[in-house]
Amino acid sequence: MKNVTLEQIFLHPITQKYLKRSGVAHAIAVAENAFMFAKKYRINPDHAAKAGLLHDVGHFTWYRNGEWDYDLYKENDIHAIKGASRAHKLLIRIGEDRHAAKEIAVAILLHTDSYLPAGELKLTPLQQVVTLADEADEEDGGSHHYRKIDSDQALECIRALDKCIAEEKNLSQKIV
Ligand SMILES: [Fe+2]
Ligand SMILES: [Fe+2]
Repeated sequence: MKNVTLEQIFLHPITQKYLKRSGVAHAIAVAENAFMFAKKYRINPDHAAKAGLLHDVGHFTWYRNGEWDYDLYKENDIHAIKGASRAHKLLIRIGEDRHAAKEIAVAILLHTDSYLPAGELKLTPLQQVVTLADEADEEDGGSHHYRKIDSDQALECIRALDKCIAEEKNLSQKIV
């Protein structure tokens, strides 16, 4: 099975297009958080980091009179549904394992309960990790979506995370 890296996902034009909407810095921070939480809770760090990176690719830009309208967003947003579908299509296109692609897409679908009945879902550990990772990077008024990161620095972070994931994979293969 071909190993799909975060770098491949990150550099894909579809990822670049949609991450620019929801914030590259936020996506990278959530991927890093998800990797750390995955290690802590002993779940697959590769799946967690990929879901973290792609969790907000479903965002639409809710503008009214040239300005972001938070009420319009709250009322109409389905970014987790769109994101899950978009991420799944992208992952399959890049060559991700089908089972992994599904796990990642469902974690994206459930990373927010903004459109779901409260408290009625029982999340898997991967889904909890992605939700925690996102919440850990949230700022008041959604300003985490507007934090900037230089593109060279972004790619450096992604490569560093790929290295950490590869090290974790090697470690777990040695243990098994
Ligand atoms: Fe989100
Ligand atoms: Fe987010």
